Amino acid sequence: MQIAFFDTKPYDKPSFERLGTEQGMTFKFFETKLNEDTASLAAGCDAVCVFVNDTVNAAVIDKLYLLGVKLIALRSAGYNNVDVRHAFGKIHVVHVPAYSPYAIAEHAMALLLTSVRRIHKAYNRTREFNFSLNGLAGFDLHGKTVGVVGTGRIGRIFIDICHGFGMRVLAYDRFPKDDAGIDYVSKEALFAQSDIISLHCPLTDETYHMIDKAAIDSMKPGVVILNTSRGALIDAQALLDGIKARKVGAACLDVYEEEGDIFFEDRSGHILSDDLLARLMTMPNVIVTSHQAFLTAEALHNIAETTVENLRSFFDTGVCENELCYRCGKVEQCKKNRPGRCF
Ligand code: NAI
Repeated sequence: MQIAFFDTKPYDKPSFERLGTEQGMTFKFFETKLNEDTASLAAGCDAVCVFVNDTVNAAVIDKLYLLGVKLIALRSAGYNNVDVRHAFGKIHVVHVPAYSPYAIAEHAMALLLTSVRRIHKAYNRTREFNFSLNGLAGFDLHGKTVGVVGTGRIGRIFIDICHGFGMRVLAYDRFPKDDAGIDYVSKEALFAQSDIISLHCPLTDETYHMIDKAAIDSMKPGVVILNTSRGALIDAQALLDGIKARKVGAACLDVYEEEGDIFFEDRSGHILSDDLLARLMTMPNVIVTSHQAFLTAEALHNIAETTVENLRSFFDTGVCENELCYRCGKVEQCKKNRPGRCF
């Protein structure tokens, strides 16, 4: 079995090479991302393995289909970059529903603590032997209200972490979980009452720009906004305006709307052409990490293990429990009897 592996980074290779070899799979590693221009690299391969910033739109899917590719194996949980509906009837799509929700939830809290205790400022100061504390006053998390949008795997762990800090937790979810003991409120109430808002829902047509000007206007002055989910949940221009107006107290962004051509790469010798990101990054109260929340040893191992198992299961048995279906988008909720492939 040959798999074209796109957007390869040095940290991806070891686990995939080791686990793939054990299963008789050959990964062809390409540093380039998958898009219409690079899809032809998958010629002769049974499957492609892609990550969050690969482009898997209708045109790419059609090209892969003509090349005889049978499976798109996402090594991520989110799949907003794949036109799953267009793939139906042509190529099957599998993903890694959970690899370490702890990694992302813990990163969200790391960003929050860094921001509110000014660790990023202090780190740079003490490196220069500047031991002044002026301007570094933060605030206690204890007793603050945090609003969590999306109470799935990651959101729930983030809620537990926040409870550990003695915070009051409010939550909003389109599909609230009855049994969870979570204090659900409307999205509007969450925006209005929260000192800190953390996003843990998927990017869909419905959640696109969930945080826009109107949402920011409805928030508490000084609100801290965390986004470790997907960039386009936030209208970045509205966020910048909110920061400039001193309405938003701080923003911690692991994802950015237009991150596709920027994140994951060393751009230090380049002129950043994205003025919006550049302006956001000049703000003392904005912290950006480069879609790093998933990057732990445990998560990398689990991503490789589940992806290899997805490939093995699909090609050996014709079915895979982590298959995505456009009908519901969640294979674990699928009520169809699927003795074989669903198409
Ligand atoms: P999950 O599927 O377990 O939970 C998502 C939750 O969002 C569900 O409870 C769902 O009901 C809720 N939801 C769906 N539509 C909603 C809406 N319109 N409004 C509010 N809530 C809504 O997903 P999980 O594993 O917790 O991941 C959440 C997101 O985190 C992913 O969609 C992905 O975009 C992002 N992610 C980011 C990573 C990073 O490295 N920064 C790594 C992994 C995931």
